[in-house]
Order: sequence, then C-alpha cells, then structure tokens
Amino acid sequence: MADHDTAPKKLFIKTYGCQMNVYDSERMAEALGAQGYVTTEQADEADMVLLNTCHIREKAAEKVYSDLGRLRPLKEAKPELKIGVAGCVAQAEGAEILRRMPLVDLVVGPQSYHRLPEMTKAAEAGEKTVDTDFPLEDKFDHLARRPKAARGPTAFLTVQEGCDKFCAFCVVPYTRGAEVSRPVDRVLAEARDLVERGVREITLLGQNVNAYHGAGEGGDWGLGRLARELAKIDGLDRIRYTTSHPNDMDDELIAAHGELPELMPYLHLPVQSGSDRILKAMNRKHTAEQYLRLVERIRAARPDLVLTSDFIVGFPGETDEDFEATMQLVEAVGYGMAYSFKYSARPGTPAAEKAAVAAEVADERLQRLQALLTQQQRQVQDDMVGREVSVLFEKPGRLEGQMVGKSEHLHAVHVRHPAARPGVIGRVRITGSAPNSLAGDWVDG
Ligand code: 5AD
Ligand code: SF4
Repeated sequence: MADHDTAPKKLFIKTYGCQMNVYDSERMAEALGAQGYVTTEQADEADMVLLNTCHIREKAAEKVYSDLGRLRPLKEAKPELKIGVAGCVAQAEGAEILRRMPLVDLVVGPQSYHRLPEMTKAAEAGEKTVDTDFPLEDKFDHLARRPKAARGPTAFLTVQEGCDKFCAFCVVPYTRGAEVSRPVDRVLAEARDLVERGVREITLLGQNVNAYHGAGEGGDWGLGRLARELAKIDGLDRIRYTTSHPNDMDDELIAAHGELPELMPYLHLPVQSGSDRILKAMNRKHTAEQYLRLVERIRAARPDLVLTSDFIVGFPGETDEDFEATMQLVEAVGYGMAYSFKYSARPGTPAAEKAAVAAEVADERLQRLQALLTQQQRQVQDDMVGREVSVLFEKPGRLEGQMVGKSEHLHAVHVRHPAARPGVIGRVRITGSAPNSLAGDWVDG
C-alpha cells in the first residue's frame, strides 16, 4: 500500500577513489536506510545525492566539482533534492565547498559519518551543515547496525583508518587523520555477521592495514593474529587485506601467509619508486634493496603469492637514472598487476613545495612503466593457463550463460557451467587469458 506520502525516499551515492570509500558508502547507505532511504542507481530519481569523494590526486578532486556542476539542472528542476559531499574532498575543503557550490546541502568528512543521520534531518529542514571534526568515538559504533539482509559472497571490512607515515606526496594523513585501529571484538563480530549473511570472502581494509594494532585479549593484536582468529570463523573461506606498507610487514603476518589457507596468496605492497634517492625524498623510510629482501621473505613463506604495487613517476627531482632504478625494481620483482600514476602536487603536502618534473618527461616515463607492467601482468595471467584454480563465483558475466568470479590470486575468471552460481567456490581449469581476465572450464568432482 505505497501511498505517495509514505513512499521511501531515494538515495543515490556515487563513490570515488579507494575501497575504503566503497565500504563507507555501504555503511552510509545502511545508516540512511534506517531513516527511510532506499538506494537507487539513478541520480535523476533521487531525493538525496551523496558524492563520496577522493582527494588523492588533483584529477579525482576536480572531478567532484564537475559532477556537482552537472547536478545543477537536476536541483533546479527539483529544489527539494538534497546534495551531500562526503569523503576526503569534504574533509580537505570543508565549508569552501558550500561557497564554491551553493547547491550543496551538507559536507561530511570521513570521521563524522555517524553524524550523517542528524545532518540529513537538518538538510531536510532546509539547514546547511558542515562536519569535518576528528571525534574520538568510533564512528562505526554509532552508525546503524548492519541489517541482516542477505548479500553477495564478498565484502569489505574496515579495520584500520588513517596514517601516521606522512609520505611527502600524500594527503591521507591530513584527510583521514592519525592511525586508528578498531578493537578485535568489533571486527570479529562484524565478520561473523557478514558470514551469516552469505559472505565467504572478506577483504580487511585500512589506509595502512598492516599497521593494525587493535585492542584484543592480552593487549594489542597485529594483523597476522587478527587473520588467524578470523580464519577460525566457520564459513569464512577467504581473507584478503589492503593496503599495506612495506615497513609494517611483520614476522607474524608473513608467517600467516605460509600457514593460513584462508589467507589468499595475493599482496598489494606499494613501493612507489625503485630509487633510493627518491624513496628518501618521499619519506618512505626503506631502500629498494630492503623492499626486495622483504619480497623474498614473503615469497619464501608463500611461493605462489602474486604481488601488486603502486608507483608514482615524475616525483619532484626524479632523474632519468632514478626512473631506470624503478624499471629495474619492477623487472626484479615481477608484478601480477600494478597501478602507476603521474605525480600530482597536493596542497599542504611537503613535496608540493618542490619543482615538478616536466610534464612530457613524466608522460613518457609513465608510458614506459605501464608498458612493462602490462607485459608482466599478461605474463602472470598466461602462466595460469592449463592450471587448476579455485574460483569464488560472484555474478553473471557479460556473455549469455557466463559466470564470473575471482581466483585466489584475484584474477577475474569467466566460466560457463550450471554449477557455477554466485557464492559457490569451484575448481576451474584455466583455458585462456585475455588482457584483464581469464577463461576456464568447470572441473567436475
Ligand atoms: N600523486 C600521484 N599519485 C599519488 N598517490 C598518492 N598520492 C599521490 C600523488 N600526490 C598514489 C600512490 C598511492 C596510491 C593510492 O595513490 O601510489 O599508493
Ligand atoms: Fe582517496 Fe585516499 Fe581518501 Fe581513499 S583515503 S578516498 S584514496 S584520498
């Protein structure tokens, strides 16, 4: 009996940037769900549009303003539409967003999401609010409990936020604040809850996830110990984590890779550069050699582990020689996949004061690096052909009758078989490799 007045309000969320934003968007949708909002995929039918933004590079931040500009006709046609800006641009720019974009109703930084329900009520009453505090309480404790509804087989779970490392290029310590870890019991409770709802694979998230030091029995626990405890949960078959800093890969976590079958043989371990001079200027606090030794130790624990990374080219002061050192490090490691970016000067960071590398030089380096990384990615994928892997199926593929899932090494695998349904883990023989995915046949028995 959906009469017009009680029809649910519709919420459209657009998520930019990292997986932590994906997790936060989900939690915000759940919190606003308790206030009668249901999510929609279409901005033009929404009563509220929330942009969950990213400030990591200039392009990402500017995209938010162009998207806000595009919402203007919608707001003009429907003045009661509420527009909110959340995430790292909200944190970095705060009230400036309201000045630049008067159509915005609320601005909420990542540490204040528990205040979103009251801010939304204020917006509905025609009042504009900005909240970019770093409150002491755990925002997740105050967000509405996750509903019991069934959900897909994979989920993110934020266990740690913020960063104390202060890499010279990075805004995260300013937008996400100091490192904070959620207590062990909250993480375990949320993981159990997700598993009850059908989740078989959890990716633990943190800007510095392996710096995790959550309060647990007997004192602070590291990520290795947390993974060990999570692995005991019946029905939780796969554990991943991202993003890690090389200096926080401790012995316990490395050992866990060798000992826990639930801990997937995949590790995103950003190195940024292969030049010691640039690593020092970036304040990464390790050398290329130390990174290579670490990779050796991790591979000794789990020989089939696939490594991925992030790289920045054109960091201020990067010479041809520095760039060649990066290429050599890539050759030495052999990555399964990697993201590479042209350096972007971010306001307020130490590196932003320094003279930039010429854009054409940075462009050319980026192209060379990406060509090498693509080649390595293809190599790792091609090496899977003929092998039998385990795949957690997630959703239908683009072609009729096809299902797509992820292998333990996080390769997307396409399979056609009636038994390959969402939530099923099956054995698959890899038969083909495309630029960004694999194809395989279901293996009976
Ligand atoms: N310019 C370019 N890339 C950056 N990253 C972080 N800050 C910047 C910047 N100012 C990249 C790093 C990081 C990834 C998330 O984004 O490689 O690991
Ligand atoms: Fe972007 Fe970093 Fe914020 Fe994630 S934490 S949204 S990557 S700025």
